[in-house]
Amino acid sequence: MKIVFLGDIVGRIGILGASDVLDYLKRKVAPDFIIVNGENASKGKGITEHDLKSLLASGADCVTLGNHYRSKQEIDDFIGDYPNLIRPMNLVGYDKGVGSAIFDVNGIEVQVTNVLGQAFMKDEVIKPIEAFENLLDEHHASIHIVDFHGEASSEKAIFAHYFDGIVTAVLGTHTHVQTADAQILPQGTAFMTDVGYCGAYPSIIGFDPGSVIDKIVNDYGRFGIDDSASCMVNGALLEIDEETGLANSIKPLRYLDGKEWDYGKGGR
Ligand SMILES: [Fe+2]
Ligand SMILES: [Fe+2]
Repeated sequence: MKIVFLGDIVGRIGILGASDVLDYLKRKVAPDFIIVNGENASKGKGITEHDLKSLLASGADCVTLGNHYRSKQEIDDFIGDYPNLIRPMNLVGYDKGVGSAIFDVNGIEVQVTNVLGQAFMKDEVIKPIEAFENLLDEHHASIHIVDFHGEASSEKAIFAHYFDGIVTAVLGTHTHVQTADAQILPQGTAFMTDVGYCGAYPSIIGFDPGSVIDKIVNDYGRFGIDDSASCMVNGALLEIDEETGLANSIKPLRYLDGKEWDYGKGGR
């Protein structure tokens, strides 16, 4: 089974860029299932129902979230209507929607879970490993993809090694920067510290560099997104052994304006 995962979609430019790349990947690799992280889909923070529908229409089978799960508070009104919209499973004090979901993919169960990290994050959460072990006691499909949304690379690696051989993949999100460590761990779990973002390029994690510098350095204005910029799309492609539920391979994905990124030349 092939699964495509795209990292944090930032703004309308990210939604459109991801949609184009998914069209291409559907033809090129014919994924059986597509997961995208949509926590920054709506103007960089949170997700509206309109933008969720856009992501689903572009081919995403499910949409995961992160610390910005509720940055658009209207999510309270629709999260219960979408079993394929997955917010962090270890939140304290928020029980709308689901933190893990099971899908029927060609007759095979595929579970997708969103976990929020603790290190350098503001939200109060149940410890990721403890919360995830409790989830496994309830239900654990043989193919289980975890979107670990966290700031610290070590925290993601600890989680991945702890559950090596138990889950299919631990894919990091949140930093928006793709890491060069896609690997299969010793017991067969695919791991990547961060799959990267989908959005404007060049940018500072998806946001217009000038606006970020104005805000951070001069305390002026707010982060903006340049919808006329080029668009980078980052993610990962998993090939999974349906018998064992473990990963055969993990390949980083990176496109700039729909073309495969040349790691030797950068964006030029
Ligand atoms: Fe993000
Ligand atoms: Fe985040």
